[in-house]
Amino acid sequence: MNVLVTGGAGYIGSHAVKYLQEKAGHQVVVVDNLSRGHRRAVKGEAILIVHELADWKHVARVMTNNQIECVMHFAAKAYVGESVERPLDYYSNNTADAVALLRAMDQAGVRKFVFSSTCATYGEPSDEHIPIGETCPQRPISPYGRSKLFVEQILRDYAASCGDFQYAMLRYFNVAGSDPNGEIGEDHDPETHLIPIILQAAAGLRPHIEIFGTDYATPDGTCVRDYVHVEDLIDAHMVAMEALTTDHPLVYNLGIGKGYSVREIIESARRVTGKAITIKEGPRRPGDPPRLFANPAKIKSDLGWQAKHTDIDDIVRTAWTWIQNHPHGYNGE
Ligand code: UFG
Repeated sequence: MNVLVTGGAGYIGSHAVKYLQEKAGHQVVVVDNLSRGHRRAVKGEAILIVHELADWKHVARVMTNNQIECVMHFAAKAYVGESVERPLDYYSNNTADAVALLRAMDQAGVRKFVFSSTCATYGEPSDEHIPIGETCPQRPISPYGRSKLFVEQILRDYAASCGDFQYAMLRYFNVAGSDPNGEIGEDHDPETHLIPIILQAAAGLRPHIEIFGTDYATPDGTCVRDYVHVEDLIDAHMVAMEALTTDHPLVYNLGIGKGYSVREIIESARRVTGKAITIKEGPRRPGDPPRLFANPAKIKSDLGWQAKHTDIDDIVRTAWTWIQNHPHGYNGE
């Protein structure tokens, strides 16, 4: 299939670009404005077009010229804290640009769409909804979560208006790890995610890791998250793409179904790296729910997907391989 990947120069998108080609022989065209992505992350024969999605007429021409059959839409801003400070950036990048992309698809007659949504659309679920299934009420507590939920709603309206549109909305939990051969990986600026920060501390690139809150109502007082390996996540996208149907949207939570605390992740990093990692215990980070982990049963029973990387040391090890090979990210290549 000819697949257009938006945000294909970013962390998750670049893994999609690689695996769509390597694992399934698809032809890939990337549209990325390189605001956060890296040209060097786009691997294989993929064509990289550096452009804004907002220019939908141009994007429609790209689709037509490359006979695109499916769009995987990764391009987005994804920092919860930043979204509180700069909400308009999030509604513009994540919501308005998704509308522009749909316009381009409409113009070019592309009918298959796989959307990167997020567990942030659930907000802070009450205990009875954990582990989190797809029917958990969606009550986002940040502009980031709302910017993605709006797109889910827009997709439903658009699909209802045309009848032949096929789409998936995949709600990610904490995406982690990197391509096991270390060729591509996570390179954010600034880096805010737990696993890369811990590993940067292990590699001597940071003095310490600060734990944001040690007084949560969790077994060891630190927040619990569901860390899903990026390779598994992309496998789920490919399975979903093959299963798209006009009958109904495919809506799935992507996680491993098990939560690890911040302290457990640090212990895993100590085991994997064999390095001393200095910890500082700090205050809570505003907006962090204590416990978030998925119930991934629906995608398993519907499509047969389940995460293969379920051992946290295995997930952390792939991220460590990347950092060892690229301590300064793509710019250090
Ligand atoms: N944490 C620390 N110290 C750090 C960084 C993180 O203690 O230096 C903690 C956080 O407080 C949180 C956990 O580690 O408890 C995980 O934090 P991340 O920033 O790695 O991930 P989040 O759970 O905050 O965010 C993820 C995705 C977002 C998504 C969100 C949904 O990265 O894109 O889940 O809640 F929106």
